[in-house]
Amino acid sequence: MTMEDSRFVLDPATRDLHGDDDLLRKLGPLVPVTAEGVPAWAATRYATLLAVLTHPDLSREIRYWDPAQRAASPPGTAIDRIVTDTSMLNAEGEEHRRLRAPLTAAFTPRRLKSLRPRIEQVTAELIDRLAEMPPDQPVDMRKEFAYPLPRDVISYMIGIPPRHQERLHELTDAVAQVGGGPEDSPGLRGDLHVLLGQIIEERRRTPGQDLITDLIELRERDGERLSNDELFATIELLFIAGHVTTVNLITNAIGALVNAPGQVELLRSGRCPYSAAVEETLRWDSPIAYFPMRYATRDVEIDGVRVEEGEPVLACFASAGRDPEQYGEDAHVFDMTRQPVNHLSFGHGPHFCLGAPLARLEAEVALSALFEAFPRIAPAAAPDEPAPLDTLLGNSTRTMPVLLGP
Ligand code: HEM
Repeated sequence: MTMEDSRFVLDPATRDLHGDDDLLRKLGPLVPVTAEGVPAWAATRYATLLAVLTHPDLSREIRYWDPAQRAASPPGTAIDRIVTDTSMLNAEGEEHRRLRAPLTAAFTPRRLKSLRPRIEQVTAELIDRLAEMPPDQPVDMRKEFAYPLPRDVISYMIGIPPRHQERLHELTDAVAQVGGGPEDSPGLRGDLHVLLGQIIEERRRTPGQDLITDLIELRERDGERLSNDELFATIELLFIAGHVTTVNLITNAIGALVNAPGQVELLRSGRCPYSAAVEETLRWDSPIAYFPMRYATRDVEIDGVRVEEGEPVLACFASAGRDPEQYGEDAHVFDMTRQPVNHLSFGHGPHFCLGAPLARLEAEVALSALFEAFPRIAPAAAPDEPAPLDTLLGNSTRTMPVLLGP
């Protein structure tokens, strides 16, 4: 992390995520930073982040952003993409409820239960493929295991025909940049919109048992509920929010566990459920590092810091998960027996992650299948540590090399 004009510059090229966060938490409840060229207050402590996520005078609506600051912020960054998104993510109150309500049915326990066999089947196929690989050669678990599972599940749930899946994921990964990837560009966004348009049209002609069909039916029954643009924005959000975050979660959990054989023993002996591994990973290595933005709707004081009307606040999820004031001096230790975990990694309040039960289910199924199938799985001795993702928003590594063992 570097400094410029008395602000800390958050930049993936110079960052040491947990080291930077340790420093920022010590400096104060809200610290002035620049994130991808945008000046903001960073909320790094657990208690402050909790207050920020539910604060009545902080809004996700971009109209509250100070116009001069907004005009000066660089276009085309991952932050820019998120703050200009027209989905529920950036709506509040009645408008937020209108956009979120049509999706809640897709994430009920009953719907998720019906997805479980599919998740188990895809996981089993991936495990079979891994079992055919040489056991003494490094295998990249991000690429071969953590990435394909959520991609299949979200595509199936939304109703993306298999032949469009690869291109759609290439485009959403590039546009989102939460998992690293090429620079966003207007060209990529245009391509993404054309492809989404084709897919929606296909579902309109051939309805299925999927989310796009549900949303189209809802729109046709009651045209006021969701405009065409909102339908696009919702599907795009689900792809972006629902894929790479879960890839990061599964990758980070594998990384944590292969380096902590004592913890794996707790899982294998049944003393800890796999859900505990998922929750502790969410706390210890949150899949989202920093997430933009909430704006002060008036001058306000938060934990003794004055935030002026129009100033943005950045949510620092990975940092809150390592806050010693919340988790004690061993906050940096991966310990699944910690009670209760109570992390904020899925957010809190009205914008609480819609896909949290799905992400939890996928990660639990994936980890239990992997660690039961490969009892000798171990980190691959690589010359260098795996490199972190090239993005401010996501927190994971670009690769996760392991030896699957005999
Ligand atoms: C919102 C994290 C997986 C869909 C959020 C927020 C967080 C988050 C922190 C709140 C952002 C804020 O309040 O500023 C995660 C993590 C995931 C994950 C860590 C995986 C481990 C998913 C999945 C889906 C999903 C699988 C969908 C299939 C959404 C949606 C929102 C959201 C639609 C916006 C909710 C709203 O604004 O009302 N997520 N997410 N997420 N997430 Fe997730």
